Amino acid sequence: MNLIFLGPPGAGKGTQAKIIAGRFHIPHISTGDILREAVASGSELGKKVKNIMESGELVPDELMIDIVKERIEKEDCKDGFIFDGFPRTIVQANALDMMLREMDKEIEGAIYFNVAEDEVVKRISARRVCSKCGAVYNLVYSPPRIDGICDKCGGTLYQRDDDKEETVRKRYSVYMEKTVQLLDYYKKQGKLFEVDASKDIEDVKDKIMEIMEKIRGGR
Ligand code: AP5
Repeated sequence: MNLIFLGPPGAGKGTQAKIIAGRFHIPHISTGDILREAVASGSELGKKVKNIMESGELVPDELMIDIVKERIEKEDCKDGFIFDGFPRTIVQANALDMMLREMDKEIEGAIYFNVAEDEVVKRISARRVCSKCGAVYNLVYSPPRIDGICDKCGGTLYQRDDDKEETVRKRYSVYMEKTVQLLDYYKKQGKLFEVDASKDIEDVKDKIMEIMEKIRGGR
């Protein structure tokens, strides 16, 4: 199944994409994770995007499109994938449709995570990520057993550079300005589904599973 998880920063897209991708044995493609790995490795791509990401702005479309094209051509995407954080602009969405068409594929569903700005800011300021395995925690909703240490691998937890309240608000405004238009884009294609992402993680997961059944049923 070829899916997109759409929504504001901190809506829970990554959390759910990990769960659903694991269950369906398809890759979770987070463009944010790909970019953060590039920054951490000090690659040419990482040097280009570091400041943009820290400011909360979007990385240029051409760069993102090249990254995604290379990624979806990999063998592990043959049975489907979940995009988390891509597309984020109409230009990216058009490019994605075009590259999938060339591969004789298409997006089957775009799942919109609907949640208010204040909740997003609250969630993100309490987010901590494992520096070793990438597991995501929340100090309020899903804290680690030992403060600062990953339950799964014992790695150290850190706060993302772009998770300061001011940057989160900036990211939210960029989302409202550039990404929200995608709701209409996928609605017109009859592919938009919505979840109330203010519910807890388990409820949101159940709702997504229902949507996936619906998509499979309509194939
Ligand atoms: P990216 O990494 O994609 O960030 P984002 O879209 O802003 O999303 P987040 O990762 O912040 O949130 P999420 O929805 O995944 O929430 P999560 O599950 O972690 O992008 C970062 C930057 O990279 C961008 O600003 C841009 O510069 C660049 N970039 C990336 N893609 C790009 C593109 N396509 N084009 C251009 N630039 C691009 O959850 C958040 C917290 O809440 C966690 O602590 C979690 O534990 C908790 N939580 C999750 N669900 C729940 C729940 N239901 N209830 C309570 N807590 C919950």
